[in-house]
Amino acid sequence: MRRIAPKITVSVKGIRTRVKAMKTMKVEKANLEWSELPFGYVRTDFNVRYHFKDGRWSDAEVTADEFLPMHMAAPCLHYGQEAFEGLKIFETVDGRIVAFRVEENAKRLQRSSERIFTPLVPIEMFREAIHRVVKANARFVPPYGTGASLYARPLILGTGARVGLGPAEEYVFLVFVTPVGPYYKGGFKAVKALVVEEYDRAAPHGVGDCKVGGNYAAGLRGEIYGKQQGYPVVLYLDPREKRFVDEFSTSNFIAIKGNSYITPESESILQSVTNKSLAQIAGDMGMKVERRPVDIAEIESFDEVGAVGTAAVITPVNTIHFRGRDYTFGNGDQPGPVLTKLYDRLSKIRTGEAEDKFGWLDEITI
Ligand code: COI
Repeated sequence: MRRIAPKITVSVKGIRTRVKAMKTMKVEKANLEWSELPFGYVRTDFNVRYHFKDGRWSDAEVTADEFLPMHMAAPCLHYGQEAFEGLKIFETVDGRIVAFRVEENAKRLQRSSERIFTPLVPIEMFREAIHRVVKANARFVPPYGTGASLYARPLILGTGARVGLGPAEEYVFLVFVTPVGPYYKGGFKAVKALVVEEYDRAAPHGVGDCKVGGNYAAGLRGEIYGKQQGYPVVLYLDPREKRFVDEFSTSNFIAIKGNSYITPESESILQSVTNKSLAQIAGDMGMKVERRPVDIAEIESFDEVGAVGTAAVITPVNTIHFRGRDYTFGNGDQPGPVLTKLYDRLSKIRTGEAEDKFGWLDEITI
């Protein structure tokens, strides 16, 4: 239980109401099976929206409406002028609510925005949106120790009507939250991956390094192809030569070899905030961090392989199927020791059980 003092404007079915500070109101957690949550959508109470019109952003609107009225000629619908983010919110061991790496996600959204010509969401506005939406949905922040988290999905959409190819005149920046469990079944459990050479998720000099919807739509073909053959995740190679490791369908690729943390450098992979954080933790643990092209022929020499991202966290990949052969890593069907250490350290930072020495947590006062 905790006390909250919301001071927000809400609109429920179009009726806007000023909610005054209610110091006595207690946050009773939602009645959910927190430890059983899949990575799926659970309806929460509010989302937050900002509208961009005539060259400026509006103030925040906090609404219970899950739907978004939009002109049918919106460029996000036709030309995919859309970018998004994913970040997680946790309850710490001492009962605080913290968001992980808000600023990094805000910067990454700006980077995506520059590439698809949407206006930039100022970092402070992004932070304000996260704080507002979490405060308004405090009862959905999973309790400490359940393994679940509150996933925030910020998105920017080109909405002003336009038919010719070009950036929209109007935009919506929206953040919704939903409580989630592990992306892959069982959490920190090994999965097997298939190298898909038949399809690409991104093109050289395209937007593979940005978090835009089109990359994920393009990746569906490979993802479904892999699943049909029994692989929960697929690994893409670089689209030009099909020689270097790019990334998994949902997340970045990391490998452990001796004391090295190895992750691909490529112009067509997403700049994962989780990967960046893990590389920093690895460096802090005395490991050598290698960010470089990774030839697929090298996989034979890796001790451990992981799929890393906000949703995937670290998912150990203990088998990679490539050209008719299985390459195995880790410890049978158990995660290897280094990934286990990295997972443990990252998890503990996020729940306040280990020192936040890099300043990654943004505390949200409820
Ligand atoms: C994330 O990890 O936050 C993503 O957006 C990946 C998506 C496939 C769930």
